[in-house]
Amino acid sequence: MLNWACHKFSLKWIGAPNRALTMALQHTLYFLLCVTVLAISAVHGDNDNNKTYFWIEQSLPILLETNTMPLNSTSFSKQKRDGEPGDFCGIECQSNQRPLDQTQQERLLGYETLHENGTCTHTYITLLDFNQTHVIDNTHGHTRRKRQVYGADGRFVISDSYFITNYPFSTAVRLSTGCSGVLVSPKHVLTAARCIHNGRDYLEDAKKLKVGVLQLKTKRRRGSRRQEQPVFRWTRVKETKLPQGWIYKASLNNSLSSDYNYALLELKRRTGQKYMDLGVAPDDTSKGRIHFSSFDTDKSHLDGRGKEKVVYRFCSVAKESNDLIYQHCDAQTGATGAGVYVRLRGEAGGEGGKGKWQRRVIGVYSGHQWVKADNGEEREYNVAVRITPTKYAQICHWIHGDPKLCKKI
Ligand SMILES: *[C@@H]1O[C@H](CO)[C@@H](O)[C@H](O)[C@H]1NC(C)=O
Ligand SMILES: *[C@@H]1O[C@H](CO)[C@@H](O)[C@H](O)[C@H]1NC(C)=O
Ligand SMILES: *[C@@H]1O[C@H](CO)[C@@H](O)[C@H](O)[C@H]1NC(C)=O
Ligand SMILES: *[C@@H]1O[C@H](CO)[C@@H](O)[C@H](O)[C@H]1NC(C)=O
Ligand SMILES: *[C@@H]1O[C@H](CO)[C@@H](O)[C@H](O)[C@H]1NC(C)=O
Repeated sequence: MLNWACHKFSLKWIGAPNRALTMALQHTLYFLLCVTVLAISAVHGDNDNNKTYFWIEQSLPILLETNTMPLNSTSFSKQKRDGEPGDFCGIECQSNQRPLDQTQQERLLGYETLHENGTCTHTYITLLDFNQTHVIDNTHGHTRRKRQVYGADGRFVISDSYFITNYPFSTAVRLSTGCSGVLVSPKHVLTAARCIHNGRDYLEDAKKLKVGVLQLKTKRRRGSRRQEQPVFRWTRVKETKLPQGWIYKASLNNSLSSDYNYALLELKRRTGQKYMDLGVAPDDTSKGRIHFSSFDTDKSHLDGRGKEKVVYRFCSVAKESNDLIYQHCDAQTGATGAGVYVRLRGEAGGEGGKGKWQRRVIGVYSGHQWVKADNGEEREYNVAVRITPTKYAQICHWIHGDPKLCKKI
């Protein structure tokens, strides 16, 4: 099962200054990555009964639509959201926050739908079986962990045709607006809200939004044999949905909007590609590693021979709150919207049998952020939105529209 990582894994370490060194590093990393994967699995193997490594089955609040209203003509803007004062509630700010009550949560989880014909609707929702979310205590948090001895932090450029068109890397998609996203159903893509909406208006680019999925295509070159190459297959987006929490309301405090920086895109047709299941972020993500693959603008443009590339990285979590994950996984613009996933074992007796490893998307990569930490000091983090049980209920509703399918995970 683990062979794939050691087998023919063609990767490059970003930052290697010259070709000879790249080659040397490539071999070293190749080896180290295999060792890492084996080492992780060995640790896991010794902890068969340790809950930390299992997906926990849980029941979820149920989200029901109460009312859908047409909105006035949708406005589009060229202005991206760069963050405004009061736009972001940092670690210090979040630790002072009281948990949201049901009414507040229902308001934030109401959502807007942008249809293909340019019309927009707002849907009000209600939550059943809502239990006030407990607050993750991050005030005396483990500050930045030491980097893994394996040199694990850092990005890997994956250009091997086989790997980038196969699971799990193939679940990473590119948006025509320049962001990344992740396939979470045969025709749904999870991405960041900021990739399509600036908090007040939709982005101009979101009008004719398209999603690119890498697939192998046979190319015939004159005088040479047929070659299979990964190329983007673009699909139009039929509908986008984003939570009310992301949208500015002059009368309300907007400091929570970064907690709602996610959106779901429904494609016009199925991609035929394997997708990654959605999950609820474990209570303590910092015990394991998070992973994500994306199309970073600096590294995933075509190489000289016209081959597409995917950028992959994994790292441990530095800090987390109820709604956000702070980490130092390296990433550049273009990675925004990427699906952050963890790999844990299925619960005994659960679907897929005991102990089967499963990857699930538990967050959305938002981008780089200066964060005010506990002591008032500003520190740099890369931030991802956590999928909480209520957010899961909402996104599941967007995908399936059937509460029966979203009752538990
Ligand atoms: C499970 O593993 C974690 C991380 O290695 C460790 O902190 C915890 O004590 C373990 N729990 C049990 C019950 O073995
Ligand atoms: C909410 O809490 C009650 C009692 O603690 C529990 O029975 C129920 O399963 C919980 N619901 C959810 C969705 O967690
Ligand atoms: C929508 O348009 C109507 C009439 O033009 C106006 O009265 C109303 O305030 C507008 N609503 C919003 C949310 O802009
Ligand atoms: C636009 O599309 C939506 C969803 O398909 C539909 O309900 C609505 O009536 C359409 N509006 C117009 C003006 O065509
Ligand atoms: C918004 O809420 C945060 C946290 O609750 C608080 O620190 C901040 O002062 C509030 N801002 C305004 C304008 O009310």
